[in-house]
Formats: sequence, C-alpha cells, structure tokens
Amino acid sequence: MPPATDQPRGDEFEDLRREVERCTLCALHETRTRAVFGEGDPHADLMFVGEAPGYHEDQQGRPFVGSAGKLLEELLASIGMQRSQVFIANVLKSRPPDNRDPRPDEIAACEPYLWRQIALIQPRVVCTLGNFATKLLSGEPTGITRVRGRAQLREFGGRAVYLYPIFHPAAALYTPAMLATLREDIVKLPELLASPLPESTLPEPAGEGAGTPVERAVDSGALSAAGGGVDPGPTEQLGLF
Ligand code: URA
Repeated sequence: MPPATDQPRGDEFEDLRREVERCTLCALHETRTRAVFGEGDPHADLMFVGEAPGYHEDQQGRPFVGSAGKLLEELLASIGMQRSQVFIANVLKSRPPDNRDPRPDEIAACEPYLWRQIALIQPRVVCTLGNFATKLLSGEPTGITRVRGRAQLREFGGRAVYLYPIFHPAAALYTPAMLATLREDIVKLPELLASPLPESTLPEPAGEGAGTPVERAVDSGALSAAGGGVDPGPTEQLGLF
C-alpha cells in the first residue's frame, strides 16, 4: 500500500488519465481509435517520452507495443529493468493519420498533459526518445544527433530532473549505427538514476548567488558528483559522460 501522502497524487493521476482518454482538444480525436495516456509505474524514477502512438498503440490504447516497443523492452532488459518499472508516455496522446509527424498545433494542445504527467510522477530522469520529445522538453531547437547521450539538468514542476535525450528506437530499428549508439546511451541510465539531484526546496538566497535551486547547485559545484558530469542546459557544459 502506498504511503498516505501518495493517495491524492494517485487520484489526480487517474483524473488526468480520464481527461486524456476523452480529450477533444485537437482534430486527432476524430481519427484515433483510442487515446494513449501512457503506462507503467506512476512513481517511477525513470520516465520515457516518445513521439506519438502508431497503429498498434492506437488499436490497443497502450504506448510502445509495436516493434519499437519490443526494442525498448530489449534495451531496458540490457540494464536489468522491465517496462513495469518505468513510465512510458508520448508527446501526443492520439495517433496522427498515417503516422505523419506531429504538427505544432497538436503538440501545443497536448503538451500540458505531458507536463502534468511529469509533475505527478516526479521522475529523477526523463529520457526523451527522438527529436520531438527532446525539442519539446528541452525547449531548444537542437536536434537529437547533437544532444543525445548527455544528461541535461533541468527543473520540471519545481523539481530538479535529468533530461536524457537518446535516439528513438523506431529510427534505430532500420539503422545499425544508430542502434549501436542507442545501446551505448542506454547503458548509462543506471549511473544517471543513481546520481544525486539538487533539492528544489533550498531557501532562496537574496542578491548575488540567487537563481533557481538548480542554477545555484550548478554554480556552487554541488553537482560535481552527478554521474561523471551533467550538462546543466544549453548555456553551460560541464563535461559529460
Ligand atoms: N513510437 C512512439 O513514439 N510512441 C509509441 O507509443 C510507439 C511508437
């Protein structure tokens, strides 16, 4: 039984699921079979964010159940984890027709659901799969090829989180070099999951040294033990994995 304090979060999570399942905010609700909220442990330390449901996901209402999902499960097994131990979500909760790319208006309509999922799950690491999730959650236009395999320290929902972009498994399925890189990037996850994160509840110092807790922790060097180095974001590089 989860601690009492987890219960309101559980209710909110189920409310959010129901909201997503009946969502009509964008035109994709007209063509989808089922909305795909996401699945896994709602208290997971590790969250994966993909792009959008494909054919099988749309049919079953579950994320990553096709060939990309099989590869994701295999990659998880390579670090001794199962999908039930993580939470798997997508940028879009409804399938774009013919698996076309998500459109900006669809992302804008759907992204509040993802931010609310992250705020409720409170993961330590958010692993973005491919360009769409990475660009959305990093807030940067830099493509996956340049940012993959390096953790970025971010603050989501008032908490410090490692954002860890990697290639999308669907892309790696057809490109052996990409698959090799994806395997290399995945094996760094256990170390990242064990890396300390700064508290986001530090009191705000006035004047010099002020900033968010994450910015202060980076400035003070408090993150030097974090898994061999972490990229605090687009402005500063600390030397990473
Ligand atoms: N690709 C995604 O990005 N998400 C899924 O759920 C399945 C395939």
